[in-house]
Amino acid sequence: MLNRISDIEKEIELVLVRNTEDLENFRLKYLSKKGIISDLFEDFRNVAPADKKEVGQLLNGLKQAALDKYNSLRSELADTDDSLSGIDNTRPGYPFATGSRHPISIVRNEIIDIFSRIGFTVSEGPEIEDDDHVFTKLNFAAEHPARDMQDTFYISRISAEDSNPGDILLRTHTSSVQVRVMQGQKPPIRTISPGRVFRNEAISARAHCIFHQVEGLYIDENVSFADLRQTLLFFAREMFGQDAQIRLRPSYFPFTEPSAEMDVSCSICAGKGCNVCKYTGWLEILGCGMVHPNVLEACGIDSRKYTGFAFGMGIERQAMLKYHVNDLRLYFENDIRFLEQFRSAF
Ligand code: PHE
Repeated sequence: MLNRISDIEKEIELVLVRNTEDLENFRLKYLSKKGIISDLFEDFRNVAPADKKEVGQLLNGLKQAALDKYNSLRSELADTDDSLSGIDNTRPGYPFATGSRHPISIVRNEIIDIFSRIGFTVSEGPEIEDDDHVFTKLNFAAEHPARDMQDTFYISRISAEDSNPGDILLRTHTSSVQVRVMQGQKPPIRTISPGRVFRNEAISARAHCIFHQVEGLYIDENVSFADLRQTLLFFAREMFGQDAQIRLRPSYFPFTEPSAEMDVSCSICAGKGCNVCKYTGWLEILGCGMVHPNVLEACGIDSRKYTGFAFGMGIERQAMLKYHVNDLRLYFENDIRFLEQFRSAF
């Protein structure tokens, strides 16, 4: 009996299986009720009482060795045979949840892309600014209403009554970035500054205290109003389609002279008149003008040698026209049901 046990133990050690059939044969041969090990347990009854202890231990050891072997063969096979691993390799994968860009980012990237094609770089600057970069260097008179607490979020003011170039505030436009660019670079300058801006407004469908702008600046020798107009026409056609038309209406900004507001033909009704363009056929989309010589001088640029144009637009406004989403608050609430609807290459 002892010899048989050790023979079988050696035999088991050498067993190799190639497939589930081999594995099942192994189980039947050694571990089933009619298998070799069961037979040995039957024979165990006839072992002399004095030997029972020793033989019993060996027999139990053999059974354990056979079970261990079976389990290790099974897991070896499972690596190559899917039916044993419990993994179904034919099952389609879980859908991979990709995010989508925020509509404001999509439109911003599209605007950046259009201007980068005609040589504009992208400049950025701080959201927390001083009065000097937001107002004073941009030729705002000391008593200009934009400097009022009602329009501007102040972080710290030097005097409660008067504004001061050292006052710290949230920028109300990204023209402040252009001031920084003019102070730091020599012409030719051709740059756009996208970014978040802040104005002290009550929040409604049409106004928000935070919104996004892209402002542009081009300074070189002999830059003319015709260059401005042609640049903006190029932009409008890339943004709203090749049939888009523009019109410039005289306006006023402290930092440009002359100044204009630009309308684009309504892309929704093709100029026929609808409720989006309020039946005028035109949509106002940006402010622009020739950079005021006072601004150039304040930023260290020789206004007798150089001229330039600037423009600025709100991104939300463009997104409203593109997506027909007319409530500004939706852009800031981060409601996933709203955001999921925007998919884009940008
Ligand atoms: N800074 C202006 C605004 O915030 C836009 C603008 C920029 C107008 C440049 C003219 C020239 O409304």
